[in-house]
Amino acid sequence: MCGIVGYVGMRDPIPVILDGLQHLEYRGYDSAGVAVVHPAGIVVRKRAGKVAELVAAVAGDQALAGSTTGMGHSRWATHGEPNDVNAHPHTDCGGSIAVVHNGIIENYAALKKRLQARGHLFRSATDTEVLAHLIEDFRKTAPDLLSAVSAALREVTGTYGLVVLETASPGVMVAARLGSPLIIGVGDGEQIVASDAAAIVAHTRQVIYLNDGEIAEIKADAIRTTTLQDVTITKEIEEVTFDLSQIERGGFAHFMLKEIHEQPETIRNGMRGRLRADEGSVKLGGLEHVQERLAKSRRIIFLGCGTSWHAGLVGEYILEQIAKIPVEVEYASEYRYRTPIVGPEDVVFAVSQSGETADTLAAMREAKRHGALVLGIVNVVGSTIARETDGGIYTHAGPEIGVASTKAFTSQLTAMSLMTIMLAKSRGLSAADARVLTTELAAIPEKVERVVAQADEIRRIAQVYKDAKNFLFLGRGANFPVALEGALKLKEISYIHAEGYPAAEMKHGPIALIDEHMPVVVVVPRDAIYEKVVSNIQEVRARKGRIIAIANEDDHEIGALAEHVIRVPRTYGFFGPIVNIIPLQLLAYYIAVARGTNVDQPRNLAKSVTVE
Ligand code: G6P
Repeated sequence: MCGIVGYVGMRDPIPVILDGLQHLEYRGYDSAGVAVVHPAGIVVRKRAGKVAELVAAVAGDQALAGSTTGMGHSRWATHGEPNDVNAHPHTDCGGSIAVVHNGIIENYAALKKRLQARGHLFRSATDTEVLAHLIEDFRKTAPDLLSAVSAALREVTGTYGLVVLETASPGVMVAARLGSPLIIGVGDGEQIVASDAAAIVAHTRQVIYLNDGEIAEIKADAIRTTTLQDVTITKEIEEVTFDLSQIERGGFAHFMLKEIHEQPETIRNGMRGRLRADEGSVKLGGLEHVQERLAKSRRIIFLGCGTSWHAGLVGEYILEQIAKIPVEVEYASEYRYRTPIVGPEDVVFAVSQSGETADTLAAMREAKRHGALVLGIVNVVGSTIARETDGGIYTHAGPEIGVASTKAFTSQLTAMSLMTIMLAKSRGLSAADARVLTTELAAIPEKVERVVAQADEIRRIAQVYKDAKNFLFLGRGANFPVALEGALKLKEISYIHAEGYPAAEMKHGPIALIDEHMPVVVVVPRDAIYEKVVSNIQEVRARKGRIIAIANEDDHEIGALAEHVIRVPRTYGFFGPIVNIIPLQLLAYYIAVARGTNVDQPRNLAKSVTVE
């Protein structure tokens, strides 16, 4: 989603900003812009389309040279179509105040009306532009930019991460946050503010995380942080751990392919120091202080969106079956608005790769308000969800850049599997049974390696189906969410309509769609319900549907039933999804490549959805 980069220091800000924006491209956006402060005015350049177009447009632009303070933005349209005018930065009437903004100003219409009545002239269709004009009004009487921005923000309803510059204060950036992340990178005689550490780590690892309700005046050698009511806040400098090589493609054609291939390692990383296979034990440091409350909880609720919601669905199967705890899985966006029945007896897990998804954040705050213990299963260290939860599990998948989530999903499943074993033990699972489970889990990275090694074979199957109009994905038990996730991957990046269904539910609707043009991907491991899924395959075959089976290496019957078979190693039922999703990720990837779509930045999607 929208990205922000601001710079103040001794260097020309433009290269820092453009490089930062390029590192934020993965988040998804549709236009971009930059601004620098000059004594004579603020110079703004904006372009619809990719950052590369902005880079080409500003190359050699002398009007941008000679400043040491500037900012840039990549916009994911909410209010107003993605064009040059609606791109950020936005300026006030006289062009002496400029704003970049992530989030939504919910009362923008009322504010705009009021400002227009006072003579302010608007140029764009955005909600953000009201901020520039509102700050312009307050600046007439405020002693400095920070006070003017504070006063303006006190009138705003909605969410924001924003940076403001003005000609009257060259060498000053004002940054504020409510519901949309902002991080200040503290350099040597320079500071970089950004909505994501990916834009900062090339310059410094020392960062300050702004919290909701905080506003900062950032100069090259000083940062002053207050609340909107001018109460001073002392901030700690923290260290970001990931390094830049983790957010480079490393020889792969796309980040998504790289991230699919990383999974044996990322799953291992998620288990490292936590799983003792020989002892049958699991240690999760982030849950130790709440272990008792967790073990005694009435139920566990997983909140998430997109792929993270699918991970919760798999978690439900694993936890209920092995740890015998009732589990509910909720779309965060639905949960927050339906007066949920939740209380101190419940444990809520916010499941999120980015740790910044607006709906997940709001839903978990709602659960917290009702007294539930709120924990996180989060990938991005230091993210808002990670900081606002009372503990949890970091998934340690490393930065995920491809918009379609892959390694984050298998790492979430790994974290849930570890937690399940830990909880099951505290609820009576025998040491011998625990050892069986830990041994099985420890073997998963090697099994994932075996599936990834079949990439070429899966690419050949993808060629056959690249022109399909629809796809159906079927699975049962814990592999039903795998079918949902497989369908999501395909539609996200190839734009082929795809649906995931519980295999047996197919006959209650989707069966009407089946004919000789319909590819049907069936996840059919040799487990207790194998024969049932085979019956569902027969129902598809009887209607000439084309079966692609994800089946075990030792399944000798499936070949006669399916047009294509992708082999996966046999895995203990409830951990199977971690292995079985891999071929579906690869299938989606190669179909998208064959169709020539932008795999890493599919249209209209954002990596981290920071608006409602
Ligand atoms: C967006 C992304 C998905 C992701 C979902 C939830 O839609 O494109 O890949 O699954 O948000 O994101 P989160 O960061 O909370 O897991």
